[in-house]
Amino acid sequence: MKNYTSISDIDNINSWIEAAKHLKKNPLKNSELGKNKTLGLLFFNSSLRTRLSTQKAALNLGMNPIVMNVSGDAWGIEFGDGTIMNGTTAEHIKEAAAVVSQYCDIIAVRAFPSLTNKEKDESEHVLNAFSKYASVPIVNMESATGHPLQGLTDAITIAEHTKLKRPKVVLSWAPHIKALPHAVANSFAQAMQKMDVEFVIANPEGYNLNPEIIGDTPIFNNQAEAFKDADFVYAKNWSSYEDYGKVVTTDPSWMITNAKIGDAKFMHCLPVRRNVVVEDAVLDSDSSLVIQQANNRTFAAQLVLKKILEYLK
Ligand code: CP
Repeated sequence: MKNYTSISDIDNINSWIEAAKHLKKNPLKNSELGKNKTLGLLFFNSSLRTRLSTQKAALNLGMNPIVMNVSGDAWGIEFGDGTIMNGTTAEHIKEAAAVVSQYCDIIAVRAFPSLTNKEKDESEHVLNAFSKYASVPIVNMESATGHPLQGLTDAITIAEHTKLKRPKVVLSWAPHIKALPHAVANSFAQAMQKMDVEFVIANPEGYNLNPEIIGDTPIFNNQAEAFKDADFVYAKNWSSYEDYGKVVTTDPSWMITNAKIGDAKFMHCLPVRRNVVVEDAVLDSDSSLVIQQANNRTFAAQLVLKKILEYLK
């Protein structure tokens, strides 16, 4: 595999899950594979888990990770073609991506959406510009529309925590004070659609995700109905897709509680706002898998980097 930019880059999710579980048992088995190879991690936005787990994954493979907060520390990057650069941007992506490619064998990029311009966000102009102008493989560490390292992590975590042949998994919208991207929800939905699970989405009216992502997945506007017989409840806020980037409601009755989820396991990608998205009692109970999910971020990233390193060999 050359690039990992979307869940659609996963050819067989079950074999990827098995491979990630194997890496988790033997994290240093391939510690020579990445020797003398450099991973560049470029962050246009904040991160805790992605930043640390992807570096950890690279170190487990013997790679040298180097990290840059692009927004704060680099020259302002211009993405427009033919722009007269007499404004705030000082360096074009054509040079920036080509230069970083001289220092790195793989480039990983995090670039969130504006949530103000649907067309521009859906064009994935930052991620795609790196793919176009870099001469080395690209890994998506969360782009405008997808977070495939998180989606793979979530698939691994569900597989680890069920003995059922076909568990019921619910992706539930939950309230938040800010307008958040659709990336985590999109990649989670795409990962579940590849797995043998009963997958449904619960969200208030006006919060349906992109119809191209939803596909045939059933959508419930009644959270209680969606949660019936659930084995896993994955909570996430996202802003409206229809009324793009807007907070249409912060209805607290959608907050996840122990009473609502019953015996189901609780999942969230983190960071999470306690007692807004989910009550303390859920996060502090054995039902919560959020720390196990965060741990699996390392092995999802390690599997992706391993596949790219094998391609480069
Ligand atoms: N879940 C996730 O991507 O966390 P960070 O934003 O902290 O990297």
